[in-house]
Amino acid sequence: MRICVLGAGYVGLATGVMFGELCHEVICADIDRTRVRAVNSGRLPFYEPPLERELRKLVRSGSLKATEDVEWAVGESDIIFICVQTPSMPSGRIDIRPVKSASRNVGRALKKSQGYKLVVVKSTVVPGTTDSVVKPLLEAGSNKKAGKDFGLCMNPEFLQEGSALKDSIEPSRIVVGSGDERSAKILLDLYKPVKSPKIRTDLRTAEMIKYASNAFLATKISYSNEIANICVRLGIDSQKVLEAVGMDPRIGPRFLKPGLGFGGSCLPKDVKALKDRAKQLGYNPRLLSTLLAINSIQPSEGVRLLEMELGGLSGKKIAVLGLAFKGGVDDVRETRALPLVMELLGKGAVVTAFDPMAMANFIRLMPTIRYASSAAECLNGADACIVQADWPEFKKLGRKEFSSMKHPIVVDGRRFLDPESVRRAGAKYLGIGFGSAE
Ligand code: UDX
Repeated sequence: MRICVLGAGYVGLATGVMFGELCHEVICADIDRTRVRAVNSGRLPFYEPPLERELRKLVRSGSLKATEDVEWAVGESDIIFICVQTPSMPSGRIDIRPVKSASRNVGRALKKSQGYKLVVVKSTVVPGTTDSVVKPLLEAGSNKKAGKDFGLCMNPEFLQEGSALKDSIEPSRIVVGSGDERSAKILLDLYKPVKSPKIRTDLRTAEMIKYASNAFLATKISYSNEIANICVRLGIDSQKVLEAVGMDPRIGPRFLKPGLGFGGSCLPKDVKALKDRAKQLGYNPRLLSTLLAINSIQPSEGVRLLEMELGGLSGKKIAVLGLAFKGGVDDVRETRALPLVMELLGKGAVVTAFDPMAMANFIRLMPTIRYASSAAECLNGADACIVQADWPEFKKLGRKEFSSMKHPIVVDGRRFLDPESVRRAGAKYLGIGFGSAE
């Protein structure tokens, strides 16, 4: 099959590389020339080493290429995946202009092309969008009928940044939403080599599954944070509590880690969009509002631990380790580092920050603080440090680095360091939902 992927972002490139690995010919189309050039030279426009390695192989072998010519790419392909972004607007509603523009382009290309093609929406869109926005634009642009002259499916993705390729090749499930049998069959056949459970639904249900999944993951995290915030005030280690809670098979152990809150390109955006849609429908989504409210106060929990330890932050030098929304990525979208640093500055602290990969992106958000070129340099002379992203290399910090601090105090904002190792390295450990282990 010849596959076209519209949008050379995380989802588009992971989808393109996955189908390339399954021996299909892939064209990635994007209006951004810099991205197209990067892909054609085997480079990703973001940090995801395993995906980049496979991309390079496919580009070299000629089975994956990128272009700015969307209509040409669509004309050349049998199946077209719309993977463009749907960013949040200030109200929480998603901006579907990129999806509309992609649909118009695909519609125009369908008009000129012969034969039956399948269009698949993979972008995260609120329930009803594929049917009431994408479909009419495709039909108007092409002068053809969906379900008759061309196919239409909705096929959400569930990948996590940092494991984009693995999550695409071995997804937990494949959801195929469609309004007609022929479209669904083509997409199910395409996914035949992927041995994951497959669920056939209508278009709106497929769209809702994505939102419901992310809302649940976000709920688990905010629940963990609420429990952690109570535990720390009771002098109980929340990690032990949540570990035991997660042993109940009805609950499960994953996404129960307390911290400074969830960020990234999906969880905050999708929960806000679902909340906004529910409100439009006249329903007040209390759980979604509350889980977002818990998320917004979590950075203050880290600041509170620092204040308790230092007795006020005015003039204190604070090292912030990790600026990405989580370790292992260079993405700073909705990173909790931003409200964290802003609160620290608001309390008069002098902040120095470091991240192994995300520093350039964070500097664009906040150009005015000091940046260090290594974790060791960041810690040097600091009154305390707070770890905001779970980069594995922060686990290797030891006596040498901590001894250069004015006060060797480590606040673990992600509960991923080993308190004992930190203590053995001569530093005081404080964790979210843990308090102090001396
Ligand atoms: C998420 C979903 O996991 C994925 O299924 C969806 O398709 C896209 O959104 P991603 O954005 O890559 O993926 O991030 P994820 O690994 O889920 O982490 C999101 C945030 O939650 C991070 O800030 C992380 O630090 C935080 N988190 C995660 C916690 O605070 N506690 C946890 O237990 C898990």
